Amino acid sequence: MAETKTHKVTLIPGDGIGPEVTQAVVRILEATGVKWEWERYAAGAEAFEVFGEYIPSALYESIERNKVALKGPVTTPVGSGFKSINVTLRKKFDLFANFRPIRNLPGLETKYPNVDLIIIRENTEGAYAGLEHEVIPGVVESIKVITEKGSTRIAKFAFEYARKHGRKKIHSIHKANIMKLSDGLFLRCARKVAEDFPDITYGEHIIDNTCMQLVMNPYQYDTMLLENLYGDIVSDLCAGLIGGLGLVPGANLGHDCAIFEAVHGSAPDIAGKDIANPTALLQSAILMLRHLDEEAAADRVQKALETVYAEGKTLTRDVGGHAGTSQFADAILAAMG
Ligand code: NAI
Repeated sequence: MAETKTHKVTLIPGDGIGPEVTQAVVRILEATGVKWEWERYAAGAEAFEVFGEYIPSALYESIERNKVALKGPVTTPVGSGFKSINVTLRKKFDLFANFRPIRNLPGLETKYPNVDLIIIRENTEGAYAGLEHEVIPGVVESIKVITEKGSTRIAKFAFEYARKHGRKKIHSIHKANIMKLSDGLFLRCARKVAEDFPDITYGEHIIDNTCMQLVMNPYQYDTMLLENLYGDIVSDLCAGLIGGLGLVPGANLGHDCAIFEAVHGSAPDIAGKDIANPTALLQSAILMLRHLDEEAAADRVQKALETVYAEGKTLTRDVGGHAGTSQFADAILAAMG
C-alpha cells in the first residue's frame, strides 16, 4: 500500500484569541486522517520576549522549507512599536495575492442570504509599503507605492481565478478620481489584463460608492479586485454581510509559498475566554487542505462545518450561540464521525 504523505506545516498560533482558535483547528485537522508534522513558532511581542526577535529566523527558515503555514492572528501595536508581523511575512515571501471568499454558512441568519463574493487583494504594496517619515515636526508623509508589475500580476491572478472557477464578473475597486497616478496605474493594468479575458465582464467602481453598494445590494458583485488598503477594509465590511469576522477565511498566496490565516485580528476584547469563533481559521485550513491536494479531507471538514451550522445547536456567541471555542470544535469532530 502507498505511504500516505506527511505534510510539514509551519504553525504560528499568534496571540490574543490566536492560540485558542489554532488549538481548535489543529484538533480538527488531526482528526482528518491526514498526516501532519507541525513546526510551531511564536511571532510578535511573545517571540521578542523569548528570542529577542519579532520574527525568529527559525520561523523564516521553517516557512522557506515547508512552503506552507497556518497562522493565527498577531497583534500589531497602534501608532508606535514594531512593524506588523503579518505584513512583514507577506512581503518576505512575496505572497502577493490575498484571497478571501465571502459565503454564507447554512442555517445562520445574517444580513443577507446566499452571498457569494470573492475578494482578491493585492498584498505587498499600496499604502502598506511601510514608507512613512516625519518631514518636519507636525508633518508626516506616508508613501503609497503602486507598480505596473504588482498591479498586473494581481489582476492576472484575479482573472485566471475567475476563469478557472466559472466566475463571470470582476470589478476593480479604486479611487483614481483622486489618486489619479497610483490608482490610475492599477486600473490601467487591470484593463490591459481584462482584454485577454473577453469571457469575463470587467467593471470599475470607486471605493466609497462600493461600500454603499455592498451594504445596499451585495449581489451585484462577483469577484472584486482591490489594492492593499481597500481590500483590507472591504473584507471586514463583507464579513459583516454574512455574520461577522468569526467566519471569513483567507489565503496569502505567492508563486512559492502560502500562508493561510483568517481575516480577523487577535480580538483582545475576547481573548483567553474560550469564546472566540474558530470558524474563520477552520475555513482557512480547508483552503490549505485543498492547496495541499487533500480534497477528501477538505470536503469532510467542510461538510461537518455545514452540518454544525445547519443544526445551529453548538455555535459560538458571535453568531448567536452559547458554545465555547472548544465545545464548537467538539461538535465539528462529532459531525466528522
Ligand atoms: P479584530 O479582528 O481582532 O476584532 C474586531 C472585532 O471582531 C472584535 O469585536 C472581536 O471580538 C471580533 N472578532 C474577531 N475575530 C473573532 C472571532 N474569531 N470570534 C469572535 N469574534 C471575533 O480587529 P481589531 O480589534 O481591530 O484588531 C486587534 C489586533 O489584531 C490589532 O493589533 C490588529 O493589528 C491585529 N490584526 C491582526 C491580523 C492578522 O494577524 N492577520 C488581522 C487584523 C488585525
